[in-house]
Amino acid sequence: YLSSDSQDAAPSMLKHLTSKITAVGPITVAEYMKEVLTNPVTGYYVRGDMLGPDGDFITSPEISQIFGELMGVWIISEWMGAGRPQQLQLVELGPGKGSLAADVLRAFSQLKSVVGGASVSLHLVEVSPALSVIQAQNLTGGQGGPSSDGPVYLRGETAAGLPVSWYRRLEDVPAGFSIFIAHEFFDALPVHKFQRTDRGWREVMVDIDPHGPQQLRFVLAPSPTLAAEPRDHLEVCPEAGVIVQQLARRISENGGAALIADYGHDGTKTDTLRGFKNHQLHHVLSSPGSADLTADVDFSYIRRMAGEGVTCLGPVAQKTFLKNMGIDVRMQVLLRNCSDLSTRKQLISSYDMLTSSSKMGERFQFFSLLHPSRFSKPVVSAGLNLDRTKSPAPLPVAGFTELRFS
Ligand SMILES: C[S@@+](CC[C@H](N)C(=O)[O-])C[C@H]1O[C@@H](n2cnc3c(N)ncnc32)[C@H](O)[C@@H]1O
Repeated sequence: YLSSDSQDAAPSMLKHLTSKITAVGPITVAEYMKEVLTNPVTGYYVRGDMLGPDGDFITSPEISQIFGELMGVWIISEWMGAGRPQQLQLVELGPGKGSLAADVLRAFSQLKSVVGGASVSLHLVEVSPALSVIQAQNLTGGQGGPSSDGPVYLRGETAAGLPVSWYRRLEDVPAGFSIFIAHEFFDALPVHKFQRTDRGWREVMVDIDPHGPQQLRFVLAPSPTLAAEPRDHLEVCPEAGVIVQQLARRISENGGAALIADYGHDGTKTDTLRGFKNHQLHHVLSSPGSADLTADVDFSYIRRMAGEGVTCLGPVAQKTFLKNMGIDVRMQVLLRNCSDLSTRKQLISSYDMLTSSSKMGERFQFFSLLHPSRFSKPVVSAGLNLDRTKSPAPLPVAGFTELRFS
């Protein structure tokens, strides 16, 4: 919830944007999005906690712990597939409240007999000081404290003694074998928007609306932009491209894998930028800073940016990934051990929310970058393998023995 200061922040964000536009002219949608979401003073993410039933939107890790646990199993299976390196850096981009990392670590502790020998560290890339405090509370019980150690701005330790470090940028995370996870991170990165017109392609810009000085409007840039595109509208997210290139380079040089899960498409959608406030759609330009802004991730672009140094799998629909990872069996175990009627109902409704095609099951997609050596053995990555004829033998994962990776 942003309740306490969102009302104050929105006018000051609007004022900031209108003075900027007055000074330099219309700004790109990417610049608008960057200011609105991550401006260091009044940015939407920078100020507070917007996740959950009382906030503006809810994410899968906040809906059910099973989501993060299954991602944890995926991480362990990739670590095993890489030959169980001694050092395992778990890196999360945009950790929200820290729930996903906490659930991943729970899977790690349940599978201690498998992963126990590795030296695991958690590295969180988070731009929001307010959210990093909530993450530290959830992951370290508030034991962490500010750090003056180079790019690490916060440091702590989990109850199990795993070191946790916070960074503002991916490039600050130390090199080493790493598994990267990014859930609903790429959709928050700024997109440029382009529109095909009779006079060629034009970038969409944000300007002050002359009919209402306290309002903003979209306009088209006067000069053309080059784009060889059959579509009429285009969204491009260069920041996502840069981050994916960094992930690919790190994975190919130091080993590891990345799992990206987000709203997305494979290069088929065009005009997807939207706002969310109180779980409702919200006009992108209305009271900027009071609502989340999000654009679907173009996985065809992510694949192009990843290049030849890594192997990409996906996108596959969330419901396919979770079913491949054994969500049905995990649900059966949880239901078998749960006699409380309201908890049972809640388990079933969260399962439905995560996997139903009309809810999050189809809209969210899973995509992964893997080290090419992963495919020198006849092993396919758990969760992302669609072709059952090529299924690997189930990996023996203690604690989750019911799981079948197919
Ligand atoms: C939509 S939330 C998702 C949170 C979490 N992954 C989840 O699924 O519940 C986006 C997260 O990314 C962070 N974030 C947004 N832009 C960022 C950036 N440029 N660098 C680092 N973190 C960013 C936000 O502060 C927030 O933690």
